[in-house]
Amino acid sequence: MYLASADRYEAMPYKRCGKSGLLLPRISLGLWQNFGGCVPFETSREMVFTAFDAGITHFDLANNYGPPAGSAEETFGKLLKQDLSAYRDEMVISTKAGFTMWPGPYGDWGSKKYLLSSLDQSLRRMGLEYVDIFYHHRPDPDTPIEESMEALATALRQGKCLYVGLSNYDAKQTKQALGILKQLGVHCLIHQPRYSMFDRWPEDGLFDVLKKEGVGAIAYSPLAQGILTDKYFHGIPESSRAGKNKDSFVAKRVTPEKVEKAKKLNKIAQARGQSLAQMALAWVLEKEPMTSVIIGASRVSQIRENLDTLKNLTFSAEELAQIDKILGD
Ligand SMILES: NC(=O)c1ccc[n+]([C@@H]2O[C@H](COP(=O)([O-])OP(=O)(O)OC[C@H]3O[C@@H](n4cnc5c(N)ncnc54)[C@H](OP(=O)(O)O)[C@@H]3O)[C@@H](O)[C@H]2O)c1
Repeated sequence: MYLASADRYEAMPYKRCGKSGLLLPRISLGLWQNFGGCVPFETSREMVFTAFDAGITHFDLANNYGPPAGSAEETFGKLLKQDLSAYRDEMVISTKAGFTMWPGPYGDWGSKKYLLSSLDQSLRRMGLEYVDIFYHHRPDPDTPIEESMEALATALRQGKCLYVGLSNYDAKQTKQALGILKQLGVHCLIHQPRYSMFDRWPEDGLFDVLKKEGVGAIAYSPLAQGILTDKYFHGIPESSRAGKNKDSFVAKRVTPEKVEKAKKLNKIAQARGQSLAQMALAWVLEKEPMTSVIIGASRVSQIRENLDTLKNLTFSAEELAQIDKILGD
């Protein structure tokens, strides 16, 4: 039987999520890959325990996480039932809907029909009465944004989530969505954009909207799915995410140019006494309005290494300029 570490709240800093009452750990754990039906249950279990024992209270899921889709929520539900039920009130559990989930016209995108039935399915898979945060996973160009926001507000009113969030909405779409939610009497807690040294699009307007509106931010793929580590310095290991799926987004992004930049960044990290992964996470966390960063991991050692990021979160102006120069070259 799992007993959480007694000192789990000692090392982790918590930050208020925008203008809300909710504190999030600076590092959160994502269950997109490596927690589904293809991974031994014991491996997922050990990673979740390592995280929770270190003060990671926030676990990020979505309906389609696995593979196969839905299986990460099933794994997490099993863990909640057999090991973590006593800790439910110490956890912030999020899920999302917006990507393809089931066949036919009601299993994708942003209709009220899809979002609310997907949330019901997520709750069933996890054995929960409510999730803490329910996100619309991506904007839907064909559904009126009012309908997608109405679905989030309905989930909130039904008590099936405590807070709502947006993911992958650009600055303009976010502004519009926040305005509609406000009219419905709902404050959007958080926005989840992809953000890393290699992908800085939120700096182009989104962060300004979030700061102005008091909405928190939580970055996903902060290591560019592993490219901002030393793992691709000598080719693509078979056991890596890019090695396991040669057609994946990350496999296409492991280019000689990116690896060269990562090697240069690694020199700055070493001078700071950090690994490249740690410096890349610290760099994300240093940005306003970043509340937390969601790490992915395929093994316990990565979670431990990434947690050590918290030992050095500050950058000198010179370091930041050197990093910008490498990224801009
Ligand atoms: N909202 C959205 O649309 C969306 C989209 C994607 C992800 N997310 C969320 O964000 C979370 C994180 O995304 P991500 O998995 O792409 O994040 P990431 O941190 O950029 O990449 C995680 C991968 O990097 C490698 N890694 C991590 N730490 C390492 C270390 N210390 N040393 C060497 N390699 C390391 C591992 O790859 P290997 O497998 O190669 O070991 C790991 O699976 C997801 O789980 C999910 O919750 C949200």
